[in-house]
Amino acid sequence: MKSRLFLGLGLSLAAFNIGIASAETVWLDDLNLKPATQGWGEPQKNQSVGEHPLTIGGKVFERGFGTHAESTLRVNLGGGAQKFTASVGVDDEVDKNPASSVEFIVLGDGKTLWSSGVMRAGNAAKECAVDLSGVTNLVLKVGDAGDGMEWDHADWADAKFETASAKSFAVSGEAALAPVAPYILTPPAPATPRINGANVFGVRPGSPFLFTIPATGERPMEFSLEQTVVRLVVITNHHQVSIRGPFAGILDLNTTNGQITGDIHTKGEYIVTLRAKNALGTAEKKFRIVCGDQIALTPPMGWNSWNCFAGEVSQERVKSAADALIKSGLINHGWTYINVDDYWQNNHDSKDPTLQGPFRDAQGNIVPNSRFPDMKGLADYIHNLGLKAGLYSSPGPWTCGNCTGSFDRERQDAAKYAQWGFDYLKYDWCSYTPTMEAQRGISTNYPLAAASWSGSNPSSHAELIKPYAIMHEALAAQPRDIVYSLCQYGMGDVWGWGDQVGGNCWRTTGDITDTWKSMSGIGFKQDKAAPFAKPGNWNDPDMLIVGQLGWGNLHPTRLTVDEQYTHISLWCLLSAPLLIGCDMTKFDDFTLSLLDNDEVLALDQDALGKEATCVLTDGDLKVYAKELADGSRALGFFNLGTVSLDLKFKPLAQFGFTGTQHVRDLWRQQDLPDVDAATGTLPLTIPAHGVLLYKLTAK
Ligand code: GAL
Repeated sequence: MKSRLFLGLGLSLAAFNIGIASAETVWLDDLNLKPATQGWGEPQKNQSVGEHPLTIGGKVFERGFGTHAESTLRVNLGGGAQKFTASVGVDDEVDKNPASSVEFIVLGDGKTLWSSGVMRAGNAAKECAVDLSGVTNLVLKVGDAGDGMEWDHADWADAKFETASAKSFAVSGEAALAPVAPYILTPPAPATPRINGANVFGVRPGSPFLFTIPATGERPMEFSLEQTVVRLVVITNHHQVSIRGPFAGILDLNTTNGQITGDIHTKGEYIVTLRAKNALGTAEKKFRIVCGDQIALTPPMGWNSWNCFAGEVSQERVKSAADALIKSGLINHGWTYINVDDYWQNNHDSKDPTLQGPFRDAQGNIVPNSRFPDMKGLADYIHNLGLKAGLYSSPGPWTCGNCTGSFDRERQDAAKYAQWGFDYLKYDWCSYTPTMEAQRGISTNYPLAAASWSGSNPSSHAELIKPYAIMHEALAAQPRDIVYSLCQYGMGDVWGWGDQVGGNCWRTTGDITDTWKSMSGIGFKQDKAAPFAKPGNWNDPDMLIVGQLGWGNLHPTRLTVDEQYTHISLWCLLSAPLLIGCDMTKFDDFTLSLLDNDEVLALDQDALGKEATCVLTDGDLKVYAKELADGSRALGFFNLGTVSLDLKFKPLAQFGFTGTQHVRDLWRQQDLPDVDAATGTLPLTIPAHGVLLYKLTAK
């Protein structure tokens, strides 16, 4: 073996010098793989993206590059390489997941030299052998085979070059966009009062009512509530207001902070007028309280601990997040939930003493870890701020982070969450397998060692549905409203049956990460689920990735400024649950401006609950349209290309618009000149990976 020298050339470029004169094998995994760009996880040397031995179709490989679609690795060969060979395929770690489908592509100087065709989980490895004579720039790509990148764990196993002479291999990923300094489009909220957020709120009969009127404007502010047809007793600052008609419940309005508490006994729709008054004026808004079977009538908005803290979450950090939601003013824009993700329970294999302890007490009640000494106190703290609290679990015996899960303890866990006062449950999938159903009710020595729980992924619809239906029943039996969020990554087209198991939202994808590949790979592949979104049922393309993130290791989001505008615009068009993923104690002005634009958020919170779909793809341009409750439509014009697009966009008539349209730029909160749908042009200058977001209303 000749001596080798590795050189790092800046952030996204690394060089590999081979000091040799005759033909030699250069292993791909000996190059610096870090600059590769991919849709999920980090590029891996000699292991899969999920950090297991590289395994394709039952065959284990010692060497290679483990990645995830959509993936790009560029190698500047300098013209001296002769041959590239590899065994490629989906890694077996996806456990035959039907969503896994990839295509491996080798490009040389811009031309396709080899492609694997569509490969699926369990397929035997395909042999790739490519002649590289004369090729300077080699690109190894893994595409998602057109169906989104869920579970697309891809291995370039045994990948190697034959090279003839001393050459320098420079490795890079997708070309990075030129950095753009943050620019804020959202105008500051006026000092006069303005009531923001959804126009509708769902509650079940008898459930504790908590709704905080989201209003911007100078403080002090005085809130009041008036009913058109009075059927509720409303107590404001403990003075009862008049009641007419049949009695339906008692609500208590705190006139200083706008918190409405109490409960409603009788099903029905109650139209009220919310008022907010300060020294500069009064704002009012019609508001519909629907007491019925359905909650989450608009997508939940809040924060979740995973994308910033992951396994480092603690009660203190969660309280600080709640404080930050108030201090930042985001509560005044409708942000409500403070959700604890994984790692509030004890863990079966962690070396961290704060995660060690009993999983359950003698009665089988789940025991939180020592970082969460007072779960009820935590929920109370969050409620006192006018916010709501969320938790996380899995239907298997263990969560994805190897903490205590809910298998065979669903009723008991749901009752505990309710007793503590939690309002939201994210229910994952990890460690659950249909085969363990046979052990239900007999696992007296629960929890069993992790190793005893092995089995296969579900093969039938019924098997997929089962654990979610069980937890649904458990939650429905509780005397409070608990938003039910399914997190099984879209398996079995969950959007088709999530409603049947009481799901209020369901993940449609694997985990998001803060790269363009990941965010765009998920966000622009949601059309198939879109028809299933409606009030109470939302497709969830995963949490937001703006601000300081890092899954326990904080860094500023790797999305560019324009990619962040795209992310928030797209998620609002998609009627997605909006869960902030960053450390909110570290907000900067730009990140906040992405999250407090009421006209943009209003798309997400629109009472009609229709999810946008793609109505036009033309080169790098994608146009998304969303119908709104007031009869208008929002259009998002996205530029997926790497250079700015400058278009004079012609007939709006192609999207069904007629007559003169009033055009509102939602980010800038400004009116544009009216456009005649048949003949007018809409000027569009869209930055690279950026967006323009408009609302069009017929005049
Ligand atoms: C994953 C889930 C993440 C996070 C994590 C916790 O399965 O998709 O959002 O909840 O588990 O371990």
